[in-house]
Amino acid sequence: MTSQAGEEFVHSEFLVPCSLFISFAQMKIDILTVVPGLLESPFAHSIMKRARDKGLLEVNVINLRDHTTYARAQVDDYAFGGGAGMVMMIEPLVNAIESLQKETPYDEIIFLTPDGETFNQQMANGFSLKNNLLLICGHYKGVDQRFRDHFVTREISIGDYVLSGGELGAAVLVDAIGRLIPGVLNDETSALTDSFQDNLLAPPVYTRPEEFRGWKVPEILMSGNHKLIDEWRHEQALKRTEERRPDLLE
Ligand code: ADE
Repeated sequence: MTSQAGEEFVHSEFLVPCSLFISFAQMKIDILTVVPGLLESPFAHSIMKRARDKGLLEVNVINLRDHTTYARAQVDDYAFGGGAGMVMMIEPLVNAIESLQKETPYDEIIFLTPDGETFNQQMANGFSLKNNLLLICGHYKGVDQRFRDHFVTREISIGDYVLSGGELGAAVLVDAIGRLIPGVLNDETSALTDSFQDNLLAPPVYTRPEEFRGWKVPEILMSGNHKLIDEWRHEQALKRTEERRPDLLE
């Protein structure tokens, strides 16, 4: 047996018993959109890619046009009562959802819309505990209200501005939620020290070199005294939050 094979043996011996104790459940997020191309790249790189490669997160992008029975894959129509802009029809959306629900019991059906609740870290934390989410990307002037009334369980905005559609919002949600799934981040504690996790912004961070153009790294970070460093970081987080986001401290 070569030493390489020996190493493999040692690793698998080590991994098998561990997996009995640490089994990470997979989370599935389906995204329904009329512009699937907009969601090709966000989950194909970096942490989201790693989460998918590790089998911790499954993301499926579903084209709404595959679920319409109307000619020329129509999914929108003029608004009753007149006015500018097209409205997404209820039928293709319901066809799509009911077909997807045959396979997946969704915990939440989330509609991305500028008039929804504003997304924040607490919501990301909550969603990261779910097993199956369906994100619906709005487009055009909006979606037939009957769909929102009868199928959607949460309506979420990613901020007080209007995007061309919900796709970028969906990408934001998947990223914010996906990185919280246990096992996705290398250092599990790094999500705990993110901004907003304790209603504080994150403190400043530094790396090499210790001095650049005369600008020095705060000495305390070089002291090796982790208790003092933690205290300093907490003070800095508080100061930053007071200066930039006093609303978080109310
Ligand atoms: N669709 C258009 N604008 C949006 C926003 N701000 N958040 C979520 N979805 C949207």
